[in-house]
Amino acid sequence: MAISRLYTLFLISIIFFSIKSHNSKAKEEEENTPINRFQRYLRFKTAHPNPNYTPPITFLIEQAQSINLTSRTIEFVSGKPVLIITWVGSKPKLPSILLNSHLDSVPAESEKWIHHPFSAHYSDDDGKIYARGAQDDKCIGVQYLEAIRSLKSRGFVPIRTVHISYVPEEEIGGFDGMSKFAGSPEFMELNVGFAMDEGQANPGDEFRVFYADRTPWELVIRAEGVPGHGAKLYDNGAMENLMKSVELISKFRETQFDFVKAGKFANSEVISVNPVYLKAGTLSTNGFVMMNMQPSEAEVGYDLRLPPMADPDVMRKRIAEEWAPAIRNMTYTIKEKGMLRDHLGRLIMTPANDSNPWWSIFKQAVEATGEKLAKPEILASTTDARYIRALGIPLFGFSPMRNTPILLHDHNEFLKDTVFMKGIEVYESVISALSSYEGVSDQVI
Ligand SMILES: *[C@@H]1O[C@H](CO)[C@@H](O)[C@H](O)[C@H]1NC(C)=O
Ligand SMILES: *[C@@H]1O[C@H](CO)[C@@H](O)[C@H](O)[C@H]1NC(C)=O
Ligand SMILES: *[C@@H]1O[C@H](CO)[C@@H](O)[C@H](O)[C@H]1NC(C)=O
Ligand SMILES: [Zn+2]
Repeated sequence: MAISRLYTLFLISIIFFSIKSHNSKAKEEEENTPINRFQRYLRFKTAHPNPNYTPPITFLIEQAQSINLTSRTIEFVSGKPVLIITWVGSKPKLPSILLNSHLDSVPAESEKWIHHPFSAHYSDDDGKIYARGAQDDKCIGVQYLEAIRSLKSRGFVPIRTVHISYVPEEEIGGFDGMSKFAGSPEFMELNVGFAMDEGQANPGDEFRVFYADRTPWELVIRAEGVPGHGAKLYDNGAMENLMKSVELISKFRETQFDFVKAGKFANSEVISVNPVYLKAGTLSTNGFVMMNMQPSEAEVGYDLRLPPMADPDVMRKRIAEEWAPAIRNMTYTIKEKGMLRDHLGRLIMTPANDSNPWWSIFKQAVEATGEKLAKPEILASTTDARYIRALGIPLFGFSPMRNTPILLHDHNEFLKDTVFMKGIEVYESVISALSSYEGVSDQVI
């Protein structure tokens, strides 16, 4: 009796220890998976307003070293490094392939998230990885490297050199990041023939791909006029003059929006002009607006977005003559946050049809993984891609996320493990195809 009880205890403890050691083994393995490396990259706090770029760059350099890729960092602006990782091809004189992503992300209000935005929580039940940056765009930053890791393990050798760049400050306009990098001699030396940058998720079954970005303009219109008593009816007050412009702009906005509503154009193919602030009113000494005064100054701010086909001269003329005419005592400022034409006067967009061999290679490589591309689009917002396209380099925006809600800049941003892993497979196909292309039809800049 005693012996059998002892024996049972012995058995139980063997089972217990074997389960325990099995668990810790599983954990060790887990620490070296692509998902785990994705989680580690997501945990770096590179959100504005205080992104710390050093730890993620150290991590990425370690990853590069683990697969024998060379890397270097360049600081165009102190504390805002650009990292370039390089896989040298067998014909390094051919123009290279550049895969870009940004290191930074927008802020996150952690109290509005179901999991902390920098914990990279991995849900067991549904495979979702929650983190700020999971979709925008730390996924691609890791997928590029994982795809190369996998290609290397299969003995693949690229013909063209492949560069991966990690840039700071995209979310605040890229002025201290890609803008400086793209304009540098170091960038010229990379001799880039074709580039890829971030895209966007699709709730549907296909991957989205972007061949142009819209260009943002910040428009501020000011009106001046004689001030007057709130009870007085008179002409040419500042508010009255400003409201005339606001009405005109609203009409223009409506005509553009009508094209979208009628299904003639996509949102990103029209000019959007959205009011973002209105400022007027005379303040009393205790800080309240004087309700019986018509003010002498009034101001309105607009977010304007122009698709690549829009004519910037026509737009400037419309603003000067109709929206803010000097004869109505109005002034304006436009901050053009990008260009609509390159230095040769060409539209800044990459042909997404068979006239562009890079398109055909890219499309076939995606389809070879059993996936489909949606109709190529113009991105409604703006990315660092514009700085590269402006150099005459063909570039597609692409983040392989399908059956995924669009959560960039939103609370509870997540990416599913299966979607992330599929993305690696897609990049393997895309990177091997692009880097194997020996054709002579590189665009001459
Ligand atoms: C990196 O290079 C070393 C030395 O040449 C080699 O032993 C190792 O297998 C390489 N690792 C990878 C992932 O290519
Ligand atoms: C412009 O300002 C001047 C000086 O205040 C004023 O006399 C005139 O009526 C204003 N014109 C318009 C169209 O607002
Ligand atoms: C390809 O796209 C470009 C730019 O959108 C266009 O100008 C050209 O006509 C298209 N070519 C073909 C063969 O469809
Ligand atoms: Zn982004």
